[in-house]
Amino acid sequence: MKKILITGGAGFVGYHLAKRLTEQNQEVVIADNFFKGRMDSDLKKLIKENGVKSIKLDLTKKSSWDEVGSGYDYIYHLAGVNGTKLFYEIPEEVLRIGIESTLYALEWFRTKNNKKNSKILYTSSNEAYAGALESFGQLPVPTPENVPLVISDTYNPRWSYAGQKLIGELLFIHYSKAYNFRMSIVRPHNFYGPRAGYHHVIPEMIERIEKKTNPFPIFGTDDTRSFCFIDDAVEAIQMVMESEKTDGGTYHIGTCVETVIKDLVEKIFLLMDWHPEKIDIKNSPEGSVKRRLPDVSKIKKDTGWEAKISLEEGLKKTISWYLENPKPEK
Ligand SMILES: NC(=O)c1ccc[n+]([C@@H]2O[C@H](COP(=O)([O-])OP(=O)(O)OC[C@H]3O[C@@H](n4cnc5c(N)ncnc54)[C@H](O)[C@@H]3O)[C@@H](O)[C@H]2O)c1
Repeated sequence: MKKILITGGAGFVGYHLAKRLTEQNQEVVIADNFFKGRMDSDLKKLIKENGVKSIKLDLTKKSSWDEVGSGYDYIYHLAGVNGTKLFYEIPEEVLRIGIESTLYALEWFRTKNNKKNSKILYTSSNEAYAGALESFGQLPVPTPENVPLVISDTYNPRWSYAGQKLIGELLFIHYSKAYNFRMSIVRPHNFYGPRAGYHHVIPEMIERIEKKTNPFPIFGTDDTRSFCFIDDAVEAIQMVMESEKTDGGTYHIGTCVETVIKDLVEKIFLLMDWHPEKIDIKNSPEGSVKRRLPDVSKIKKDTGWEAKISLEEGLKKTISWYLENPKPEK
C-alpha cells in the first residue's frame, strides 16, 4: 500500500483521483483550503467510506506544510486556481497561489518528506503552450510537448494562469535536477465529468438546457477542443506517476479527437432531448485560443495509456450527475 498526498484534493481532478486510488486500497491524504473544492456529499462519502483523510490547509503558507506530515510515496500537486472566469477576475491571486504553493511544495518535498524513491507530479496545463499557437500560428496540430511556452500578451489577465504554469514547470524541472529527485509534469487538456464545478462549458450548457434558455448563447462556436473524460484522465495521471520511464518528463493528457464547440453543444442537445429555437452566437473571450489538440503519442509510448471513453458515453455520465446535483442557489 502506498501513502499518497493530493494537494487541491477537494477539487475536480483531486476528488476523482482520490476515489480511484482509495478504490485500489491506497492510503490517501488530501490537502485543500476549500477555496474552490467543496465538502459536499460526494467528498464526505469518500472520507467516510473510502477512508480518505482530509486536511484543511492554505498551501501558500510555508508553515502549512509542517502539518502535511511526511513519508509519502507519491505527491500529486494539483492545488491552484482553475477556471477561466477567475483568470480574468483575480489574475494576481492566480499567480500568487500557483507560484507560492508550488515553490513550498518542492521545498517541503526535498527537505521534509523523507521517503526513499518518492516522486512528485505537477499538473501544468495546455494553456502553457496555447500562446505559441496563437502568436506563431505555425506550430504542429496535434501539438507535442516540446513546443515553446509563450505568453502572448502579458497585459491580458487571462495569461496569468499560463504564466504561473510556465514557472511551475521550470521550478519542477530545475529543482529536480539540482536536488536529484523524481518528478513528472502532466498537461491536462479539457478534462470533463461529474463534479467539475458549475463554471465550465459543459455544466453551463446543461444548466441552460434545463432552464430552456432561448435564444441559446454559445461562445466561440467554431473553436475546437479535445475533451477527455475524468475517469480516463485520472488513470493517465496515475500511470505517469507510477512509471519510472516518465521520470523527469512532461506529458500531454487528452484525447486526439478534435471537437468543434458547436458540435459538442448539438450532442448535448440531442442527449438531453431539447433544442432551442434560436442560437445566439457569441465571440469567445479575448485571448481564447481557437484550436487546441494534443499529440498524445508520448504518453502512449511510455505508459501504454490512451483514452477509452467516447465523448457520448462521458457526456451521458456527466449530464446524469448534473441533473442530480443542480447548481446550488446562492
Ligand atoms: N480540469 C482540467 O481540465 C485542467 C486543465 C488544465 C490544467 N488543470 C490543472 O489541474 C489541477 C487540478 O484541476 P481541477 O480542475 O481539479 O481544479 P479545481 O479548481 O477543481 O481544484 C483545485 C483545488 O485547489 C484548491 N486550492 C486553491 N488554492 C489553494 C491553497 N492556497 N491551498 C490549498 N488548496 C488550494 C482549490 O480549493 C481546489 O479544490 C490544477 O492545477 C489545474 O490548473 C486542470
